[in-house]
Amino acid sequence: MRLVFATHNTHKAIEVQKMVPDAFEIITLTDLNILDEIPETGQTLQANALIKARFIHQKLGYNCFADDTGLEVEALNGEPGVYSARYAGIAKNNEANITKLLNNLSTKENRRARFVTCICLFWLDEMFVFEGELKGTIIHEKIGTNGFGYDPVFVPDGYDITLAQMDLMTKNLISHRGKAFKKMAEFLLENKG
Ligand code: IMP
Repeated sequence: MRLVFATHNTHKAIEVQKMVPDAFEIITLTDLNILDEIPETGQTLQANALIKARFIHQKLGYNCFADDTGLEVEALNGEPGVYSARYAGIAKNNEANITKLLNNLSTKENRRARFVTCICLFWLDEMFVFEGELKGTIIHEKIGTNGFGYDPVFVPDGYDITLAQMDLMTKNLISHRGKAFKKMAEFLLENKG
């Protein structure tokens, strides 16, 4: 059964393919030759995931899903949140985003934070939402070279290493994204009809 992932990120699609039941074939926008960059204009992660999934559902009527992830820092009132990818202004500049985050936290004692992933799934014309979170602490300088985004400054609760020091398999087992996709995979397994 085909399931469209409203993303151009093939790497993410390969990871998700490993998590869902074998009966599902994950197709990306690139596979469908849809080149549109869907504007993420929502004020929340769920709104952005919904915009992306609805775009494909309305255009093609297929079963489809989209995800959106953000880092929410307690002492910064939930920032960068929905703006995580473009916190420093330039889209997906991880270095600049981390520098801005560490600067903004430099005078704060509370360094608690969490990653949240929200998935919107259109399944048989109904919409379903799945969420996963990973709680942890922002450290004072970058450690580790694995992963991406804010991984080098994020130490998950129960660990004394950053996400950027973990191998991908361990990260996927505990991560916000891994947990959200596990919930979607369980739903698909129960409802594949
Ligand atoms: P996206 O919604 O998956 O594209 O994530 C938005 C932004 O959140 C990314 O550009 C990263 O800055 C950050 N982010 C998302 N997931 C992770 C993660 O697993 N580790 C570190 N940063 C992440």
